[in-house]
Amino acid sequence: MFRVGLGHDTHRLIAQVPLVIGGIRIEHDRGPDAHSDGDVLLHAVTDALLGATGMGDIGEWFPDTDPQHAGADSSVLLSQVVAEVHSRGWEVINADCIVFAQKPKLSPYKQAMAQRVAELLEIPADRVNVKAKTGEKVGPIGREEAIAAEVVALLQSRAE
Ligand code: CDP
Ligand code: ZN
Repeated sequence: MFRVGLGHDTHRLIAQVPLVIGGIRIEHDRGPDAHSDGDVLLHAVTDALLGATGMGDIGEWFPDTDPQHAGADSSVLLSQVVAEVHSRGWEVINADCIVFAQKPKLSPYKQAMAQRVAELLEIPADRVNVKAKTGEKVGPIGREEAIAAEVVALLQSRAE
């Protein structure tokens, strides 16, 4: 059996905060306003897995009211969900991702992000694709007020 999951995440951008996307540190003059490290891509990947397996959403698993998750490394949260997904008999086939950011230019980082996401999903690197889109200078993305990510993931039951 195959199941598809969709993940989305948005973070407001604020000055002088480290920007980490897909587990990769990116040089920039602003970063996410977030309880955790605010990694939009890893949060969207996590939600895609939770969606495909009918396990709810990231806020249910890791409430942002929980002081334990303050400044949390999102790769640790994703790894916990991957372990749960595997224990329920699912494996990830592929993930296709879009990061929405007016700046900075992400093309130099896309391959590293895809590799890191694949590593966290425990699948070969060629099964993760990362795309980037500007906001064409309009809306909250285009005005550099926010960054966002969307991810679709396909999972297969290990039983078949
Ligand atoms: O051309 P189109 O309007 O569809 O897309 P765009 O959002 O203007 O992005 C054009 C190119 O810039 C794409 O190849 C993106 O991967 C790249 N890009 C990037 O490197 N970094 C961003 N923050 C946004 C887009
Ligand atoms: Zn988030």
